Amino acid sequence: MNTQKNLIDNFKKVCICRSITAATIMQAIRDGCLSFEALRRKIGVGTGNCKAKRCRQNIEKRVQDHKKALKAEEVETAGKET
Ligand code: FES
Repeated sequence: MNTQKNLIDNFKKVCICRSITAATIMQAIRDGCLSFEALRRKIGVGTGNCKAKRCRQNIEKRVQDHKKALKAEEVETAGKET
């Protein structure tokens, strides 16, 4: 069910002005863009007519969630090593 939800989410346009989907944004985040500004430079989010008023909050939440997941993964890996 969660995978199905993720698949549907991937097709959603997060940055509506620039027609940038969640899948594109998540791929850029996984490639190392860990801030809104980095994403803006790499894929152009937030450069549309609304100047990020509609998408910034959603994109920043995705970046924060990804960072939390990375930290949780690090803690889990460190726990296994000791
Ligand atoms: S929705 Fe992203 S710049 Fe307008």
